[in-house]
Amino acid sequence: MRVFVAGGAGYIGSIVTQRLLDAGHQVTVYDSLVKGHRQAVPLEAQFVLGDILDRPTLDAALGAEPYDAIIHFAAFIEAGLSMQQPGTFFRNNVAGSMTLIEAAAAHGVKKLVFSSSAGVYASKDTPLVEDDPIGPVSVYGHTKRMIEETLVWYHRIHGLRFAALRYFNAAGATPPVRGEAHHPETHLIPLVLQVALNQRPRVLIFGDDYPTSDGTCIRDYIHVLDLSAAHILALRALDEYPVLICNLGNGAGYSVKEVIDTARQITGHSIPAKVVDRRRGDGPVLVADASRAKALLGWVPQIPELRDIIASSWAWHQAHPKGYDSDEQGDK
Ligand code: NAD
Ligand code: UFG
Repeated sequence: MRVFVAGGAGYIGSIVTQRLLDAGHQVTVYDSLVKGHRQAVPLEAQFVLGDILDRPTLDAALGAEPYDAIIHFAAFIEAGLSMQQPGTFFRNNVAGSMTLIEAAAAHGVKKLVFSSSAGVYASKDTPLVEDDPIGPVSVYGHTKRMIEETLVWYHRIHGLRFAALRYFNAAGATPPVRGEAHHPETHLIPLVLQVALNQRPRVLIFGDDYPTSDGTCIRDYIHVLDLSAAHILALRALDEYPVLICNLGNGAGYSVKEVIDTARQITGHSIPAKVVDRRRGDGPVLVADASRAKALLGWVPQIPELRDIIASSWAWHQAHPKGYDSDEQGDK
């Protein structure tokens, strides 16, 4: 297949791009580099520097060759920040996605895989299934839901087949080459590992008064390679199912304190932690029931243990203590 990967210079998109190439697909990465890294893009992929809000540049890129599918990762991702700057998130994640979807329809692209999020759900103590109540607690989560709903209409009107993959917490790396390097970093696991690298004095725990076993938020961490596999399976499954909405998680929840403790064991560092106020936009518990992805995509996570997920991240962070360097080349 010829696959157009919007946001393919980012953390998840660059790793999915490498897996697509490994599976024999042709890939064009389209990314503005507002957050991504040119070095993360595999050398065998074509690269187009462009914004999804820029319709003429999108048209030129999508018109250059016939694409079988689009995988759409391009978005701003910080739920907490979306509660301070809602307009930035509505513009990039909603207006940007709508521009991309409209261009996809105009260029006759038949399949689209969308990076949705566990952030679309209301928090629940037991694993979430796809039909559980929608109830985003952040603008970020709401932007993802708005695009899921938009895609339903493009399916009805233009026959666009789509998969909305609701990732839970993406984590882990593919050392030595690719890993998580967000600027600024807001995700728990990389922040904890930066403390272990002595780049930060301590990790802040955002609230210990949640209704959970130890009072800190519980999340379901899923290895980025397992996420990658699900995208490739979804591209194929769209031949059979025109609309797929699937959770991607391991079904096991870990509290913030448990993540920090696991990282202490792996790194051998004491990782000092300090409890501070809650962060706006966080729900107490988000854990996936991924039965649907397993049944419809044939998806089986290969790296389900939190320990292994954090260990892969740690290997990457040790190899790249400053994240991506400008002299690195994208390659296996
Ligand atoms: P990332 O920030 O590493 O990657 C996003 C990429 O999109 C970056 O390369 C950025 O430059 C690009 N981009 C952003 N806005 C753009 C625009 N307007 N035009 C062109 N390119 C643009 O993020 P990530 O962690 O790889 O997440 C990828 C996707 O997965 C996002 O849509 C995110 O919402 C979703 N998601 C991530 C997680 C997670 O835990 N990381 C969980 C659920 C969903
Ligand atoms: N946390 C801290 N301290 C930190 C950073 C995070 O205590 O310094 C806590 C958060 O409050 C949260 C948990 O650690 O309870 C995980 O936070 P992350 O920022 O790592 O991830 P989020 O759960 O906020 O969000 C991530 C992605 C979203 C996605 C969501 C799905 O960023 O795109 O997972 O669950 F929607």
